[in-house]
Amino acid sequence: MKLTVIELFAGVGGFRVGLNNITKIDSKNRAIEDGKWDFIWANQFEPSTKVQYAFDCYATRFGEENISNEDINKVKKNLIPKHSLLVGGFPCQDYSVARTLSNEKGIEGKKGVLFWDIKDILVEKETPFVLLENVDRLLKSPSIKRGRDFAIMLKTFDELGYNVEWRVLNAAKYSMPQKRKRVFIFAHKKKLNYSKNFFESDTNILNNNLFNKIFPLKNIETIEEINLKKYKDIYDISENYSEGKFLDTGMMLNGEVFTSSINEISEPIFSLGKILEISSSFNQTLDEFIIENDNLEKWRYLKGSKKINRVSKTGYEYTYSEGTMAFPENLNEPARTMLTSESTLNRSSHVILDENIKKYRTLTPIECELIQMFPVNWTSTMPKRNRYFMMGNALVTGIIKRLEPKLREIIENEDELNIS
Ligand SMILES: C[S@@+](CC[C@H](N)C(=O)[O-])C[C@H]1O[C@@H](n2cnc3c(N)ncnc32)[C@H](O)[C@@H]1O
Repeated sequence: MKLTVIELFAGVGGFRVGLNNITKIDSKNRAIEDGKWDFIWANQFEPSTKVQYAFDCYATRFGEENISNEDINKVKKNLIPKHSLLVGGFPCQDYSVARTLSNEKGIEGKKGVLFWDIKDILVEKETPFVLLENVDRLLKSPSIKRGRDFAIMLKTFDELGYNVEWRVLNAAKYSMPQKRKRVFIFAHKKKLNYSKNFFESDTNILNNNLFNKIFPLKNIETIEEINLKKYKDIYDISENYSEGKFLDTGMMLNGEVFTSSINEISEPIFSLGKILEISSSFNQTLDEFIIENDNLEKWRYLKGSKKINRVSKTGYEYTYSEGTMAFPENLNEPARTMLTSESTLNRSSHVILDENIKKYRTLTPIECELIQMFPVNWTSTMPKRNRYFMMGNALVTGIIKRLEPKLREIIENEDELNIS
């Protein structure tokens, strides 16, 4: 099968950077694509802003051809080209569904829930392979009905004829510079050779999971089964699901679900200190990132432990408490999870003690790009504040880079005739 890809919710192109091993930008501001994957279509639209910084960055790096800046909800799915692989990172939303009033048999998800757009594309295009990224919370949400949302997602895949594998990956455990836990989901049509054969080669079914082969684990001991077959459809799951949360790795084979907790093998650490060392070789003016005097006290207070008496909206008095955070950051450890609010005066932002200038400071946009394993200055097309935001939204591209050879092998070995 050809290595054709569509990238949804493309942001600044993390999947593409990973799959095509992009490490540099040329003198015309274009990405130097070193890989074999043909990105035949991409979509990125930010509903909350007029200026489309992420899309503009993607267009600058990859050119304007075959990329769409339209709300995915409004995109006519039949106009999307046929492809071998669909990739995308999207938010964890409420996947509950309701019966439509107009049609007794119809089932409808909430408006604006992006997974339903993915589903529409899978139906329309019969996509053979799907690689998705989401926050690990997806496996246990919502809090009032643990696991319901992922169960709906799995049942949807099952109804569309897919087997599914998943794994929570913490990039820092695999020699990458950030503690970032995300769930990666690989779905493939049951009729594909890969899908028919992938579970036959080992007695422990979860050892065959694609992610567990590439990101090794210590022994998987206890496998739990989650019975989705007893639910008639996604509406039944939406209303009645009661099997609980899904664990950090698992697979669904012909509608049967197996899941297990994980115990990662430790690989050498890629520390924040190393990132600072790399970053110091780039010409950056650091003045605007330095924290001094009163500001230093504000940061110290935010990072410290505290107990604050508060009153809830309903008049209930309670004590809000939070623990201490490292201040400054421990440079021997990988960075913590980067959020979209990185560098704003906020407990979650990283504050480092820069040994070269002997001062406290926040991270530079280049350091954030390095922490997400993007090429340096990838987001230089936009204002500084948006650069942090984009990196907070993106993924550790090293995860995709490490998956790439196996994905390529799987898709290249698949017969083209199995696509339709
Ligand atoms: C979690 S981010 C994905 C980031 C991406 N993987 C990257 O490497 O930059 C989700 C993206 O979906 C986009 N998005 C949100 N709603 C959308 C919609 N209705 N249509 C298309 N894109 C949307 C956001 O603007 C954001 O860039």
